[in-house]
Amino acid sequence: MSDLILVLDEGTTSTRAMVFGLDGRMHDVAQAELTQHYPKPGWVEHDAGEIWDRTLACAREVTEKAGVDRIAAIGITNQRETVVAWDKSTLEPLSRAIVWQDRRTADFCEELREAGHEAEVQAQTGLLLDPYFSGTKMRWLLDHDERVRQAARKGSLAFGTVESWLVAKLSGGSHISDASNASRTQLLPLDGAQFDDGLCDLLGVPKAALPQVVDTHGSLGEAKAEWLGKALPITGMVGDQQAATIGQGCLAPGDTKATYGTGAFVLANKGGEQPRSDNRMLGTVLYQQGGKRTYAIEGSVFVAGSLVQWLRDQLKLISSAAETEALARSIEDSGEVVIVPALSGLGAPHWRADARGVIAGLSFASGRAQIARAALEAMAHQTHDLAEAFAADGARWTSLKIDGGMSANDWMAQDLANMLDLKVERPDFVETTALGAAMSAAVGAGLYPSLQSAADAMRGSIRAFDPAMGEAVREERLARWRKALKAA
Ligand code: G3P
Repeated sequence: MSDLILVLDEGTTSTRAMVFGLDGRMHDVAQAELTQHYPKPGWVEHDAGEIWDRTLACAREVTEKAGVDRIAAIGITNQRETVVAWDKSTLEPLSRAIVWQDRRTADFCEELREAGHEAEVQAQTGLLLDPYFSGTKMRWLLDHDERVRQAARKGSLAFGTVESWLVAKLSGGSHISDASNASRTQLLPLDGAQFDDGLCDLLGVPKAALPQVVDTHGSLGEAKAEWLGKALPITGMVGDQQAATIGQGCLAPGDTKATYGTGAFVLANKGGEQPRSDNRMLGTVLYQQGGKRTYAIEGSVFVAGSLVQWLRDQLKLISSAAETEALARSIEDSGEVVIVPALSGLGAPHWRADARGVIAGLSFASGRAQIARAALEAMAHQTHDLAEAFAADGARWTSLKIDGGMSANDWMAQDLANMLDLKVERPDFVETTALGAAMSAAVGAGLYPSLQSAADAMRGSIRAFDPAMGEAVREERLARWRKALKAA
């Protein structure tokens, strides 16, 4: 009996394979870290070969344990915007992948902005001119990498985001990208079925190197038998933040979630209405079925869990991420220490590619606990900025569903409720990205008739955090945060 979904959840810092039952229960997981390459300040690269090797190893491990005959379908979810360049005939990477956090195309974006292109690009794609998105990264590879240029000349260059790369490897050459990932390239109009000639010309990306845009769920492709012991259908492909939105059951217009992973990403469902923002939020495709799109409005914050990782790995201030909770609880307040985590510039709503991180308010009373607490407080401060921008766009949150590894921190979840003055809801199973990919793949395989029925069957219990903070404390913290932001 085939009653399980295999999810490949390819994140920024690690890649995982998970097996889900149709009741949403996770049966098994295998995980491998990804090497982060930082060749220069502001540059972040991945080895696409390593992404494939480690993803496959994890997939094999969980599939063997579950028994391949029980796997009904594969769902893929992934870090978005990261660009892979490969050769269509050999399926070998041509360069390192440029990761979404990479800022190397800031000058090109600035040039385009100065030439007056931002308004038209935003109107068409929902995105602002920022190095975050894939299109300028593709252009950079063409300008600076001889192998990429040569492949373009020969007609064998393939560009794709990570789901596109994984499908190419799994299927043995299919070159497709799902609409949720494609909508992050800055080359796809929100209402365009395929990549747009004018946008490709503007960014200097040859359309021939781009994948075909397909639905997020349906019959999308097939993984060859040589990888997992049997040919398996690929029936779901969705960017990780859109997957988390689905996994949280944010399926009605207005439903909003925030995922705290490497970065923090807030998405609000906009239904079939094309999102427009006057407050520097993004418009994006949430999912696409039978060519019909559902949209979301998004606020993207570049640094969340990666700040805690930085405290652990670079500053060696803590030995595990979980330690931050006890440290934060051990003191009354952060002693005026404020962190602006602009370690790879600032995303929404500020969009300052050149901003750099700040630790402000240090005194001799500041120690590990104050810095750890300030790091957690920064999550609520950044989310508060997004809440204000969403409200200004007429999309005020009435509650917020949170998830992602970092949201397991109870202190942080309560601090969010306090600073937003809003009920915050967290599922007991916080890996909603993978759950959302499982739901998409289940619908794509025809195992559920709709995302809503999959959500009803697969989502688990929820814990609520109610606000409990006085206005004066909140205002004091926000005033300190705003002052520190100016220094970033
Ligand atoms: O847009 C970048 C996003 O997809 C990365 O997600 O899970 O690595 O924080 P994550």
